[in-house]
Amino acid sequence: MSALMQQLNETAAYIRSQVSGSAAIGIILGSGLGNLSKEIITEKEIPYQDIPHFPVSTVEGHKGKLILGSLGGKPVWVMAGRFHYYEGYTPAQVAYPVRVMHMLGVQTLLLSNAAGGVKTGMKVGDLMIINDHISFFTENPLLGRNEEALGTRFPDMSEPYSRDLINRMKQIAATHNIPLQEGVYTGVTGPTFETRAEYRLIHALGGDAVGMSTVQETIAAVHCGMKVFAMSVITDIGIREEENTITHEEVLQAARDAEPKLTLLFREMVQSL
Ligand code: HPA
Repeated sequence: MSALMQQLNETAAYIRSQVSGSAAIGIILGSGLGNLSKEIITEKEIPYQDIPHFPVSTVEGHKGKLILGSLGGKPVWVMAGRFHYYEGYTPAQVAYPVRVMHMLGVQTLLLSNAAGGVKTGMKVGDLMIINDHISFFTENPLLGRNEEALGTRFPDMSEPYSRDLINRMKQIAATHNIPLQEGVYTGVTGPTFETRAEYRLIHALGGDAVGMSTVQETIAAVHCGMKVFAMSVITDIGIREEENTITHEEVLQAARDAEPKLTLLFREMVQSL
């Protein structure tokens, strides 16, 4: 067995030893969006630092724990806090918890993130269904030796975000009169926010939003056969007329403001699965 599979087995065995149940749905919460975890009826919370081979999250706004609980009556694994490339983790480390979820039986992965709006007409606080992504500005987590036990060497990426889940979410949002944007998420490394020229470049390339997470996790999830749904909270607008700047505090605040809507949508999505 490869070193990676051995580690994944050890991590999964530890987590299983800490809980009595399991779940086929996984959720990864983005910056300022950790409060969804308050809606969860928790069976067990495991701080990341207790989990063998798990990276430990450092950025403000990230709580850093794995939760097994139920949301809308359905069992879920929730990662409150994620690992970003800009923190110094390798793409394989960023992808690691997704692979752990796979080992734990997760088949559907729901992701949230804070992102900069690039599409014309977007406003701070908008929610955007991610229907595709651009990964070329980030490092692919599948570079290097392929782990055949997880997936194929050259995974198809024609539909990284499940059509079925996107349609479900549109129906849920329509029922609650919650308007949604839909578009392409462009993954970047950060930690700098983009320059004006970079936002224009992303726009020209067909990106509708830009952010520092999600893409590597999605690639790892699709590689091991999961269905993925992802939603961005638009926390700032990249292409702007005025001379305003972007701060991390502003991003966190906008994410917190949008959180009740996102929480409702994710809860109903989980319920519908
Ligand atoms: N750019 C990159 N990442 C982000 C942004 C942004 O404008 N907003 C929140 N995360």
